[in-house]
Amino acid sequence: MATFQLLFPLFISCVAASTRPQRHLPACQVVQMDVFCSNLSLRGAPANLPRGIQMLDLSRNMLQNLTEETLAFHTRIHQLNLHSNMIHFIQPGLFKEMTDLKVLDLSRNHLNVYAVSKTNIGLLTAVESLDLSSNGLYTGMTDYFLAESPLLANLSLNSNSITKIAQSTFHGSVALRRISLHNNVILEIEDGAFDSLPQLTELDLSKNSITCITDFNLCQLKTLNLSRNSMETFQTIESDDVYELLSLDLSQNKMPYFPLLPKRNKLVYLDVSRNQLQSINVTGTVEELVNLRDSLLAHRSPGLSNRHQLLPNLKYLDLSYNQMKNIPQSFFCCMVSLQVLNVSNNCISSFVITYDELLKNVKIIDLSYNSLQTLTLGERTLQSVEELFLQGNELTTLDHQTFQRLPNLRYLQVQQNNLQICVSGQEQTEPMWTDLNQQDPPGCVSFSSIPNLHFLYLSENNLKTLPANVFFNTPLKLLDLSLNPGLEMEPESLSGLKHSLVHLFLRDNNISNLNTDLSSLTSLKYVDLSTNQLTTLPLWNKESSIESLNLQNNNLVTLEYSTVLALERSLKTLYMGSNPLSCCSNLRFLHMVQRSAVVVPDIETVTCVYMEDSEPVNIETVTQTMCHNFDNRGISVIVIVVIISGLILVLGLLVKLFHSRKRKRHRSFNA
Ligand SMILES: *[C@@H]1O[C@H](CO)[C@@H](O)[C@H](O)[C@H]1NC(C)=O
Ligand SMILES: *[C@@H]1O[C@H](CO)[C@@H](O)[C@H](O)[C@H]1NC(C)=O
Ligand SMILES: *[C@@H]1O[C@H](CO)[C@@H](O)[C@H](O)[C@H]1NC(C)=O
Ligand SMILES: *[C@@H]1O[C@H](CO)[C@@H](O)[C@H](O)[C@H]1NC(C)=O
Ligand SMILES: *[C@@H]1O[C@H](CO)[C@@H](O)[C@H](O)[C@H]1NC(C)=O
Repeated sequence: MATFQLLFPLFISCVAASTRPQRHLPACQVVQMDVFCSNLSLRGAPANLPRGIQMLDLSRNMLQNLTEETLAFHTRIHQLNLHSNMIHFIQPGLFKEMTDLKVLDLSRNHLNVYAVSKTNIGLLTAVESLDLSSNGLYTGMTDYFLAESPLLANLSLNSNSITKIAQSTFHGSVALRRISLHNNVILEIEDGAFDSLPQLTELDLSKNSITCITDFNLCQLKTLNLSRNSMETFQTIESDDVYELLSLDLSQNKMPYFPLLPKRNKLVYLDVSRNQLQSINVTGTVEELVNLRDSLLAHRSPGLSNRHQLLPNLKYLDLSYNQMKNIPQSFFCCMVSLQVLNVSNNCISSFVITYDELLKNVKIIDLSYNSLQTLTLGERTLQSVEELFLQGNELTTLDHQTFQRLPNLRYLQVQQNNLQICVSGQEQTEPMWTDLNQQDPPGCVSFSSIPNLHFLYLSENNLKTLPANVFFNTPLKLLDLSLNPGLEMEPESLSGLKHSLVHLFLRDNNISNLNTDLSSLTSLKYVDLSTNQLTTLPLWNKESSIESLNLQNNNLVTLEYSTVLALERSLKTLYMGSNPLSCCSNLRFLHMVQRSAVVVPDIETVTCVYMEDSEPVNIETVTQTMCHNFDNRGISVIVIVVIISGLILVLGLLVKLFHSRKRKRHRSFNA
């Protein structure tokens, strides 16, 4: 029955759509000279549209036959959107007459049916942008649409079933600048298939089945996307021509070797991530390569052999998710402009940069999730690095001044390693690195006096102690020390961070007693103390500025009155679930929650018990009266208070009565 009710109006509207004369039909929207008739179950354009319209959107309708008639003879439009119809026939020569039509979207139709008839659609007189994606077209079928398209610049053939780009495919469309063939099944590109396209600058061949390109020769191309193919080789032909290529995406392929790029290139962006690179072979020492590079850059001499790749403009290099075991520093000789280097998720065990001039401009280095045991950086190397990702490695020892030497380091991730922190603090004399503190464990690394470090992630490092003043002179805003179970902090551990620290994470540390005074950290706003063994909160000496506090999963029975008081003013969010709270000794806290002074996102899981061994109840259900029933001392106090106040009341009443009688008597005399 319900289905029938649903179907019935639908049925009516379909009947209406097919029987009523067209001009009464649609509720198209007309905005100036643009007409929007999307999703109206139309079989053609409405006849009553204003003359001289520029844009007609007939997408998501039921057009099948594309003729002058179905377009209601609006042949002077500039832009026609017909995507998501059922078009399987196009009147040949239709677009020849449409001499203003620049943008034509025919995506998501059934043009493969039309192509079977082997008829050309004729001249695309003015069309500059054509979308034929998702039409079930396979190899050769495109010819019937592209044969005469002299002004066509943008072409999308995405999501069809094309297996081969033939030499003749684009012969009729010599003005093409951008071609997108994403998501086809291209296995073969015939020699010279793009040679007839002198203006081609962007080619998207991503998500196809191409296995190799051995003679790349499209000098004028600026962007090439070969991501998600089955590429095993990418090679440029031996040539001294200058290639305009700026961006090359080779990610998600099967390449065992670094691509052989044009000798003279302008490449800025190179993505070779998710391939099968095992190593990078570089011939020559750093000195030789640097000399060679400098002379080449100076003289622009063409005598470069293909083995020495010069990438003078490369800014972004992604080699993540490969199987590289090492990466020789000489590899970077020819990348003087590099800014972002991503080699995460490989198997690199040692990363060494000892020459100042290598990676001089790099701002971001991602070495995360390798098997790094050593990181060797020369004294004045990587001077521009701002973000360094070293998490998920096997670093146990580091030169203890490693990070101090990076003057621009702002963001450092070293979680999931086995680092030890040096004791070095305030009292150390200059220059710091000459006299290592006696107590320092060998191979420890220092985190004090890193002039620009704001974000430091040290979780999961098996840290056992955090000595006093470890972060002295390092302006940390965020510090993550989570997942270092058993970490012992000293009262002065964080004292260097008094004015800078905003975020502090101490999750999962098995801390039973936090002896650091967090209220002395005057900028602190976000604190995570969840999953520890805290039985009490640290003393808050003064008003805190904490806005968000996570106390989930601890052993808290009471929140002291002074703590609640210190927090109350600034606190906005409090996580409190999974603690063995006592219902009746937290009335102050309860009050704070109940009058919504603070948001408790996990309130559902905040429970408390009235007495030992009693069932936990949700804290929101607790009332003061119930506490009296459970708290005998409370009751006796209250009973005494009630009795005393009762007595006082009675006494007061008696006195009053006595007085008023007196007054009444006076009044009656007066009256
Ligand atoms: C489409 O239109 C043409 C010409 O008007 C006509 O011959 C053909 O039968 C039509 N096809 C369909 C499927 O309506
Ligand atoms: C071609 O595509 C680019 C990028 O989407 C766009 O900026 C340009 O305007 C398009 N050209 C035409 C004629 O549609
Ligand atoms: C290449 O194409 C893929 C789609 O398969 C896309 O995700 C990626 O962003 C493109 N690469 C570039 C550099 O635009
Ligand atoms: C490096 O690549 C990995 C994997 O693609 C990505 O998750 C990570 O965000 C990249 N690193 C940077 C700093 O962009
Ligand atoms: C956590 O601390 C308790 C003592 O407070 C100790 O018995 C236990 O072994 C510690 N657990 C870990 C994983 O360090």
